[in-house]
Amino acid sequence: KEDTLILSFESSCDETSVAVIKNGNKILSNIIATQIKSHQRFGGVVPEVASRHHVEEITKCIQMAMDEAEVSYDDLDAVAVTYGPGLVGSLLIGIMAAKTVAFAHNLPLIKSNHLAGHIYSASFVTELKYPFMALLVSGGHTELVYVKAPGDFETLGDTRDDAVGEAYDKIGRVLGINYPAGKEVDRLAGIGKDTFNFPRAMVQEDNLDFSFSGLKSAFINTVHHADQVHEELNKADLAASFQGAVLDILVNKTFRALKTHPVQQLVVAGGVAANQGLRKRLASEIETRKLDMDLIFPPLRLCGDNAAMIGAIAQIQYDKKDFADLTVNADPSLDF
Ligand code: KG4
Ligand code: ZN
Repeated sequence: KEDTLILSFESSCDETSVAVIKNGNKILSNIIATQIKSHQRFGGVVPEVASRHHVEEITKCIQMAMDEAEVSYDDLDAVAVTYGPGLVGSLLIGIMAAKTVAFAHNLPLIKSNHLAGHIYSASFVTELKYPFMALLVSGGHTELVYVKAPGDFETLGDTRDDAVGEAYDKIGRVLGINYPAGKEVDRLAGIGKDTFNFPRAMVQEDNLDFSFSGLKSAFINTVHHADQVHEELNKADLAASFQGAVLDILVNKTFRALKTHPVQQLVVAGGVAANQGLRKRLASEIETRKLDMDLIFPPLRLCGDNAAMIGAIAQIQYDKKDFADLTVNADPSLDF
């Protein structure tokens, strides 16, 4: 038998997801049960609510993933699960489910890193060539990661405060946009103009780190001040000004990293990789700089949290026989 079939689990935050992945790059099924509606009225993810939803959804997701893939447990080669980073109570539900299936069907268990999963969501688009650069932008992370070989990561830069998606969600809230606000801020930015000239933190500094809290504060102060003096600000211009600063920061640090670490492929992954402004801007920067480098974005559906991406990184671990045992625990603050 030549093909490898992995049943993968992802439950690190507010998405319950189970997938069946063939050879690390073919999706046979990828069931995603989102809980966004349940968290919206709280303006963010409530950990206790999230884990309860995972408990309710996970068995149905397994059944649906197996049915849609049209495979039986005998066909599977391994079970993979996100063990961090994320919310401990959420991670544990996926881990318990994966352990149960692995034990019941005598399958090897693979513990996968959520961040590595985001990066490897690019496997569904193209064959990755090493070394490559990854810009990982999500609700919890903003990192530049140099991927030297399969599963071999080096973090070159990280955020010193807020993650970029988190900044989108916080400023979106000030604009009266529901959680998660990124998509709507992105849409507004597309129809507004960058007129506010918000700060671009650390772009002059010769390092690869990011900072978004100053930008977030400047934004919030601008809106609050306008409220106090009963001045109406243009929401689209505010969004475009925020996004203009974000893109300048991301672009500056990414190309700084590429100077010392030239690669053939730049992968952009994580929830914020869905950003239309970021997609356009990176493409045009590569063209202006005449760089011979492929820009790879996962399809929109694979930018947010999903189990397919866990199946992709798990395949690399499977090939290395990097198996876990049934004592696996959640690691909420796992990094590379
Ligand atoms: O990767 P993800 O689904 O969850 C984490 O692991 O964090 O990322 C979710 C984040 C949220 O902060 C959301 O607002 C942001 O991704 N996001 C966007 C866009 N779509 C989702 N941010 C900017 N522009 C978008 N189009
Ligand atoms: Zn994520």
